[in-house]
Amino acid sequence: MNRRRFVQSTVAGGLTLAVAPRALLGQAPTVMNSKSVKPAVIASANGNKFKNGGEMTCVQKAFTMMTQGGADVLDALIAGVNIVELDPLDDSVGYGGLPNADGVVQLDSCCMHGPKRRAGGVACIEGVRTPSLVAKAVMEQTDHHLIVGKGAQEFARGLGFKIEDDLNTEHSRKVWLEWKRRMDPSHYLDPEKRAEARRKVMREMVAEGMLDPRHIYGTINCDGINAKGEICGVTTTSGLAWKIPGRVGDSPILGAGLYVDGEIGAAGSTGRGEANLYNLCSFLIVENMRRGMHPKDAGLDACKRIKANTVEKRLLNSKGKPNFGINFYALNAKGEYAGVSMYPGASYAVCTEKGPETLPCEPLLEGKADE
Ligand code: GLY
Repeated sequence: MNRRRFVQSTVAGGLTLAVAPRALLGQAPTVMNSKSVKPAVIASANGNKFKNGGEMTCVQKAFTMMTQGGADVLDALIAGVNIVELDPLDDSVGYGGLPNADGVVQLDSCCMHGPKRRAGGVACIEGVRTPSLVAKAVMEQTDHHLIVGKGAQEFARGLGFKIEDDLNTEHSRKVWLEWKRRMDPSHYLDPEKRAEARRKVMREMVAEGMLDPRHIYGTINCDGINAKGEICGVTTTSGLAWKIPGRVGDSPILGAGLYVDGEIGAAGSTGRGEANLYNLCSFLIVENMRRGMHPKDAGLDACKRIKANTVEKRLLNSKGKPNFGINFYALNAKGEYAGVSMYPGASYAVCTEKGPETLPCEPLLEGKADE
């Protein structure tokens, strides 16, 4: 569906109830409600790219469900990220995500519901294409937040989720085999040499067009606010490509890969999870917004915190700056939003009543991670 048709169908399909009479007078529609919040859905850039053979991207789907169908915000966001989880072409999320060092796809996800003040997560789960739905089930059906590994898979099996032996696609298996051929992980070099070898192999594979640099850490984060001002968020990922089996990144950890305060806003992340975990940036961003910062300033402050706390030589480039990328997506209770990144070149997805867009992230630094 193109942007023009989307805007027309969104307005025709439901927003008219909320926007009259200005729209009837031919003026730009303004959604009216007690809080005067304009609904918005934001996501990492893959949220406005993959369609899994359907008509809509993640942000379009979530926005449409929220505004036309009256769906719960979290249900809408999860339906959106399900598109990306199920799409074999995104090799950083769900089915077809780049596997761990043993060639096994292990997935992490969490979700948070602002109005309900509930959250759920799974980590290192195998065999389920849509870990975000399992995370939601943890939220809704247990007294816990996080279930991991075999336990998460058994929990999902018990609820009737389809468990598959292998979530690799031909592409993800082929790229993993090439990585294995170039760098035998069974030698487990000392940490410094291993990190250096890993960077070298990844650089080579990116240069040869085998690996999308944005998908090394992968992930989709998606956050939304509806006309009633209800805020939710979800993050889902296959994590770091070829990670040590069992490695869990920032995505399923509240305060790191995602944080939502229903009165303040939501924030989530993609990129180097370890850097985010050391600084709990999604929590930091929401707390910054609580103190009145705009989402953009709140996110840039998190990038600054990461930069200040990145001191190990192996994590610095020739200019003494972080040698990795990290992005944050933030949305406040007024419906203002931003995407920010450590370096220029990153983008993020948004869908409002104007339709879906991909916008540039605001970078903290100049230059490139790998200079
Ligand atoms: N941010 C995704 C990960 O590090 O696993």
